[in-house]
Parts: sequence; C-alpha cells; structure tokens
Amino acid sequence: MAKPAPKAASSKPARLRTPSDLDAKDTAKVGEALNGILADCFALYLKTKNFHWHVSGPHFRDYHLLLDEHADQIYAMTDPIAERIRKIGGTTLRSIGHIARLQRIKDNDAPYVDALAMLAELQEDNKTLATHLREVHDVVDDANDIASASLIENWIDETERRTWFLYEAGRDSERGGH
Ligand SMILES: [Fe+2]
Repeated sequence: MAKPAPKAASSKPARLRTPSDLDAKDTAKVGEALNGILADCFALYLKTKNFHWHVSGPHFRDYHLLLDEHADQIYAMTDPIAERIRKIGGTTLRSIGHIARLQRIKDNDAPYVDALAMLAELQEDNKTLATHLREVHDVVDDANDIASASLIENWIDETERRTWFLYEAGRDSERGGH
C-alpha cells in the first residue's frame, strides 16, 4: 500500500518556537521591519565600500578613510539585527538575492562617480536609513520590544553622525559653504 504523500512545505516564512514573552503577531511585524533595515544595511555597506574603493581626487585619503570607517559601522549593525530577529522567533536574510528583493537603498553601478557626488549620495542614503530606523522604532515600541528599541536608538545616533560627517566633508568651501 502506497504511503500518504508528505505534506507540502508551507510557502510562508517559518515562525519558530523560540521562547519569547512577546506577542507572536507583534514579533512577526518586528521581524519583517528589521529584515528591511538589514537589507538596507547590506546595500549601504556595499555602496560605501564601492565608493571607498573607487573614490579619487585631491581629498582621496580623507574620503577613503572616512568611508571605510562608515562601512565598518554599518557592517557592525548587521549581525545584531539578524540575531534580534532570530531571538524573537523569526527568520532572516539568506542570500544576496534576498537582500536585493528587500533593499530600499538603491545600488550605484556607475563606472565613474565624482567624489563630492559620492558624499552627497551617501548623505541622502544615511538620512533615508535614519527615517526607516525611526519607523521601525515605532513598530518595536508597539510590540514592547525594548531591546530592539534600545539598539535602534544607538543606530539612529550613529546614522545621524555619518550624515553629519558626509555633509561637512562634502561642503565645497569655494562655493560659499560656511
Ligand atoms: Fe579598504
């Protein structure tokens, strides 16, 4: 007699039985929101490295070093974000393709980008990241997920610091920035 066919695997993202006192519906929302931030961080990390590698011009050394510092800071966000999602029972990113499907920060594959244009673009991207972090802070607040909220608060501060440095470093004094 034929064995019954195995049940088809659900196409829904798996919710795991990781113990948490937080409400499962809330943590699903938190996981989704954090995965968006994680994808943006990887996209912004790679763009910052791209510009670190390809920047050229009179302030090469300053910009090259600044962008490396920024890339390290952004990369350092990724593991804690992914592990927060796992701690509350969710699943996180699995591939570059997965990042590409979720990222809101746009790639820049241009063969040449002027140094000041690089700083301006990263300034905008970091501002956008801060906006998204504030949105996710609201989601984690509603879920009473204080640990995520506290991490996000620091990341907003770091993101605003990067935005500030990119703004100041990118000011063209000859065009009247004071
Ligand atoms: Fe490097």
